[in-house]
Amino acid sequence: MSTSESDRERDSERNFGDYGGQYVPEALMPALQELEDAYERYVLTNEDGFMDEFRDRMRDFGGRPTPLQRADRLSERYDREVYLKREDLVHGGAHKLNNALGQVLLAKYMGKERIIAETGAGQHGTATAMAAAHLDVPCEIYMGRTDINRQRPNVYRMRMNGAEVNPVTAGSGTLKEAINETLRDWATTVETTHYVIGSVVGPHPFPKLVRDFQSVIGREAREQIREKAGRLPDSVVACAGGGSNTMGAFHEFVPDEGVDLVAVEAGGSSLEIDEENALAPNSATLSTGTDGVLHGAMTKLLQSGDGQIVESHSVSAGLDYAGVGPELAHLVETGRVKPVSVDDDAALNGFHRLSNLEGIIPALESSHALGYLEEAHDELGEIVVVTVSGRGDKDLETVLEETEKRDLEAAPNVEVFDS
Ligand SMILES: Cc1ncc(COP(=O)(O)O)c(C=O)c1O
Repeated sequence: MSTSESDRERDSERNFGDYGGQYVPEALMPALQELEDAYERYVLTNEDGFMDEFRDRMRDFGGRPTPLQRADRLSERYDREVYLKREDLVHGGAHKLNNALGQVLLAKYMGKERIIAETGAGQHGTATAMAAAHLDVPCEIYMGRTDINRQRPNVYRMRMNGAEVNPVTAGSGTLKEAINETLRDWATTVETTHYVIGSVVGPHPFPKLVRDFQSVIGREAREQIREKAGRLPDSVVACAGGGSNTMGAFHEFVPDEGVDLVAVEAGGSSLEIDEENALAPNSATLSTGTDGVLHGAMTKLLQSGDGQIVESHSVSAGLDYAGVGPELAHLVETGRVKPVSVDDDAALNGFHRLSNLEGIIPALESSHALGYLEEAHDELGEIVVVTVSGRGDKDLETVLEETEKRDLEAAPNVEVFDS
């Protein structure tokens, strides 16, 4: 094979069609190469029994497999079979641990002595802190100052699990700046440190690595639906921020052409971008974004005409990100995944509806998928799988505050009782 042919082959492994790649400073290239080698050895070929240990720990520490539960009252309401993939029952309350535990374990196999991670809402930070405590590795989490102020319980949870939380004051003090700061730390500490990225974003090999750790969601769901319903579903519906829940749920179903894959984004309060003030009142990157480079990868982004990343918004902190994983962008571009969005009100109604009808309080992120189910169930076929990516206890304060301000048809009375 000529050098240019092998270069092209290598490039195609690093990309998903036009998306992906490694747009990083030179200083990070050795770390990405080392990670790529470790990914191939330990994850893809199970060297030293890495994947066996990962699965054992996800069972005993993480609580896998999670159930695929028939939602009886939703099934009746929508006159079809609705099944919930219960990632809210993973230890820590969200799918985030699937990836965090995989990467912290991988770091140990690579001989790294220190873990760093970014977090926005705090879900990935808490999952990483839990995994690092479980595997006895020192851990530092970068978190924007604004996010620290609005997610205090998660900051305490990280500290209780022994992690240091480093406040990031640059820019708007949210997820984008936290990722920048973590990449900066990594560039100077690559020899001793592994960066546990929190979604299917970033430079190659992160999008593949995170997808592979999360693909247990779809692998289990595919087997479970066959057992319970006797066939594959007509649709799989999952909420998308960076895209780890969606890619985790979809990956095993991608070759099944009869299964529609629906990624539900945060429509916020409007799908328009306010160019003048560099604001998007939504996080609907797949539905409305344009191509550009963020955090080391070519992907779809919420950006102004001159390429400035705009500030995104969602009532759910975990979907509030101006980028999205490159593989998901590619699957949307090729028509395999359908991007849709629902607004904040629909998500809040989805939150209340599942709580009220099924006795499950979903994360506000997951509530977007449930909001879409209400709006578009007629288009989803006879058997529908919806991932409940996390539980909503973390969101109670936000939900009470937002519900009081709105007239939501599914909400209970949230007025404070007289003392
Ligand atoms: C419960 C839950 N679901 C979904 C997401 C969105 O992230 P991703 O798109 O990577 O799954 C988050 C992010 O924090 C989350 O906490």
